Amino acid sequence: MSLILMEGGRRLSGAITVQGAKNSVLPILAATLLCGDICRIRRCPRLQDVETTMEILRHLGCRVWWESEDLLVDSSTVCCWEIPDQLMRKMRSSVIFLGAILSRCGQAKISYPGGCELGPRPIDLHLAALRQLGAQIEETGGSLCCYAEQMNGSELMLSLPSVGATENAILAACGAAGTTTIHNAAREPEIRDLQNFLCAMGADVHGAGSSTIHVVGKKRLHGCDHQVIADRIVAATYLSAAAGAGGDICLQEVDPGHFSTVTAALAQAGCRITCDETSVRLQSDRPLRGISLIRTSPYPGFPTDAQAVVMAALLRSQGTSVFVENMFENRYRHAAELRRMGADIRPEGRVAVVCGVPRLQAARVDSTDLRGGAALVVAGLQAEGITEVGEIHHIQRGYADIVGDLSRLGAVIRRENT
Ligand code: UD1
Repeated sequence: MSLILMEGGRRLSGAITVQGAKNSVLPILAATLLCGDICRIRRCPRLQDVETTMEILRHLGCRVWWESEDLLVDSSTVCCWEIPDQLMRKMRSSVIFLGAILSRCGQAKISYPGGCELGPRPIDLHLAALRQLGAQIEETGGSLCCYAEQMNGSELMLSLPSVGATENAILAACGAAGTTTIHNAAREPEIRDLQNFLCAMGADVHGAGSSTIHVVGKKRLHGCDHQVIADRIVAATYLSAAAGAGGDICLQEVDPGHFSTVTAALAQAGCRITCDETSVRLQSDRPLRGISLIRTSPYPGFPTDAQAVVMAALLRSQGTSVFVENMFENRYRHAAELRRMGADIRPEGRVAVVCGVPRLQAARVDSTDLRGGAALVVAGLQAEGITEVGEIHHIQRGYADIVGDLSRLGAVIRRENT
């Protein structure tokens, strides 16, 4: 069993660069299937989810290998269109392979990705979009069998701006004949990164970042060289860590525009934030102030993935903060663990009220999910004594080196394998 141990009470200081974005690299790796050539993905974070994606690509017949921080994928040897159940279960976002495999092979078989720790996560919008492009999809015994000898471009209207459904629709539309327009598309920066990657492969995609995306299908794409954007949620995590513990840190090689709602919230809490085009500096001298209302919503709103870490930053603030979680039903599971450290958090349905307390005490706590686990680390850096965080496999799904990064910022933190 592995634990992350940290001694709270140290101010953080210094500068670090931020890893590549998990939520960019996963759909981009699926998109490598489209070209039948070699792609080099720069700044690819070494994450458990990336390992799982590599396993899926290899299962499909690709050659995949690391060259330092770059991941290379040769999809010229794809020979399979099925993803086995045990690989599908390891990572919910494996559903993004559906559009990519269909585009490349004209058929796909995957198992149904179940609900996860955040509550039910349906894929009805993904399937509706693919069906509208001409895919026939049979759902039997937990499996999805999809056939699409020929997909045709279409007008797609998403009933809500789902990130995954937008990505699946883009990937399928690249292999469809003619033009597809996706209305009410998700506007996340990771979708624009996927578009940039596809265009580097010779695809015709534009509009990502807005609510309307146009894709003109193309028969042949080619290999490319692409650098993944910085991970805005990892950036939000380290900013929250310094905000809560106090300090003066600089994050480099980021796009502060991608997480401006998070920096605005931390500024409202009393942190000093200075940004230029590629870096952000945060200075925090306790105590912070509570924030009247943080509502999560699709980009460019406040990201649901940053809710837990910003909540952890505010545990010792003066006053009350109110969170409203609009994206997922079950996203306050970290609250119970934070309460073991003395936090005063009252979740009820979609709302959680945080009353600042003067101090947190170290405790033995367990990660409940990826960002919830990171929130425990953010809290542990403020707590008196040595906090032990367990179930860190959740954290490893999305943070390439949280212990190393925070150590470089002066935290007393280590990983222990027991
Ligand atoms: C992506 C991110 C995840 C983030 C989430 C919301 C990746 C790999 N993951 O997840 O980190 O928390 O966006 O910003 O990029 N929905 C449906 N039907 C569908 C699809 C979605 O009802 O077919 C609902 C979901 O239940 C949820 C909402 O739409 O309530 C948003 O989900 P979505 O944007 O699809 O999130 P993911 O792509 O799964």
